[in-house]
Amino acid sequence: MPDHSPRGRFITLEGIDGAGKSTHARFLAEMLAARGRRVVATREPGGTSTGEAIREWLLHRTMTHDTEALLMFAARREHVVNVIEPALARGDIVLCDRFTDATYAYQGSGHGVSLAMIDALAQWVHGHCDPELTLLFDVPGEVSRERLARMHAKGKAQDKFERETLAFFERVRNGYLARAATEPGRFRIIDSTRPVADVRAELGRIAEQL
Ligand code: TYD
Repeated sequence: MPDHSPRGRFITLEGIDGAGKSTHARFLAEMLAARGRRVVATREPGGTSTGEAIREWLLHRTMTHDTEALLMFAARREHVVNVIEPALARGDIVLCDRFTDATYAYQGSGHGVSLAMIDALAQWVHGHCDPELTLLFDVPGEVSRERLARMHAKGKAQDKFERETLAFFERVRNGYLARAATEPGRFRIIDSTRPVADVRAELGRIAEQL
């Protein structure tokens, strides 16, 4: 029997802290909604009440790097089952601010957690639910540091990850770029050092294609 159930679009946004991803995520969601698309804008870690509680631990408690990866996937399982899969089944566009690529980049490349273990957890947690498009907002580590410093000076609270070293952010960035190189069909690398208006123009073209 052919499957006639609606199937939405699963799009993720990634990048190191300070890459401007969250600002652009809001803009993209508004643009798609203005075109009459039903959009579910969500984030990780988080996106459900249990996931948001786990997020608090992840961003503010000290733990081993393996525990960090396990909690990311625990929150992700709640999110996939309760939010992402139902939205895709309704035919909505899911715009997710970070997903499993972040675990490969931050816990894997940044903190040295086994990539094979991350592969196994990803298969268990969302074996049949992978993003079809991933927008990677790319900036060098120094740019990220400068932007974060400005945000913190204006009063944004600093979380555990944002206190990491420049070398850590460079490893995370390289981890993202390495993943993009292995899956060029899924990733779209967006040079996020450009003025916001230029990035928005590119997002506008992507929204048209969707
Ligand atoms: P983010 O939502 O980008 O933070 P903010 O609200 O400050 O913009 O992400 C929170 C942090 O979680 C970010 O530093 C990256 C980290 N993270 C991981 O380390 N691994 C993961 O799998 C995910 C989803 C996030």
